[in-house]
Amino acid sequence: MVQWSRPLATLAPRLLERLQPLELAELPTPVEQLPRLAGPGAAELWIKRDDLSSPLYGGNKVRKLELLLAAARRRGTGRVLTMGARGSNHLLATVLHARSLGLAATGVIFPQPPTEHVERNLAADRGAGAELVEVGSKYLLAAGLMRALLRCRRREGSWPYLIPGGGSNPLGALGFVNAGLELAAQVRAGLLPEPAAVYLAFGTGGTAAGLALGLELAGLATRVVAVRVIDRLLANRRRLLALLRATRRLLRSGGDELPRPRRPGANLEIEHRFFGDGYGRATKAGRRAVELFAGAGIILEDTYTGKAAAALLEAAGRKTGPLLYWHTLSGADISSWVEKGRQDD
Ligand SMILES: Cc1ncc(COP(=O)(O)O)c(C=O)c1O
Repeated sequence: MVQWSRPLATLAPRLLERLQPLELAELPTPVEQLPRLAGPGAAELWIKRDDLSSPLYGGNKVRKLELLLAAARRRGTGRVLTMGARGSNHLLATVLHARSLGLAATGVIFPQPPTEHVERNLAADRGAGAELVEVGSKYLLAAGLMRALLRCRRREGSWPYLIPGGGSNPLGALGFVNAGLELAAQVRAGLLPEPAAVYLAFGTGGTAAGLALGLELAGLATRVVAVRVIDRLLANRRRLLALLRATRRLLRSGGDELPRPRRPGANLEIEHRFFGDGYGRATKAGRRAVELFAGAGIILEDTYTGKAAAALLEAAGRKTGPLLYWHTLSGADISSWVEKGRQDD
């Protein structure tokens, strides 16, 4: 029996019986109409409030962790190991949700431009008891991971469960296949019109690949516009399609009857123009989007969501709509973890 009360469990019950994901998130997240932030006469705007997906730590990552941490538990390990930039939202989400399940977490981290958001996340990691292994550059990640793996093995006598950066492997991406089905159910229930396109930040790609697959399976014509926020070497169409295809293979591996797919990724577009000078570097258009959204009561940041929202606002100005902004940033209050981390320092 599948215990998971999500739409994907109805579509692929055999696979989900094998995976037995956890219920860490509060789903479905609400959809709301936004004011016409791109100006009068611009396209109608909607928002998917994944910022509200968990009071512990929400945003997009908790959807992936429902599957990934279930696998870690099945493995019988006491620790998970993952990686990211110093202020990684994925790392903090992993640390906090693993902790709530009684699992310890190690993070291998590399430098990024310092901001208040980055330093708060790092303090919260420490406050929640994460072990952090710092490397001097992202090119030294593999070496740092190897060191951390061996250290865990020596100290604890077992290997930690390895979660890739951003939680973006086919297993994690299934969380966003489910998210696509969830949005389709909200459209069918009349809670919002069928969006012409969904805009979201594209980092490691599990969010965009999973969502494109989920929307296609649900029969929606909505396009997914993945707004690239990391280097092109890591975030590009070839890698995104490879992840999408691998996720589709995993989805089919349970032997469930699934709708026949069209050309993989036909509903997926990559928007490169809003990246600016680098990962974690604010752009003018991104800053403007942060301000406009703040006026509507929605908190964005510079690294991911500001850039995605800037692309959405530009498209809205071209009057094609309705458009949906997928809000991938956690809105949970982490101040107690931050304070604890700063006291312990
Ligand atoms: C707030 C936020 N939005 C979007 C993303 C991008 O998601 P993905 O890595 O699945 O492309 C991330 C990833 O770290 C994130 O932290």
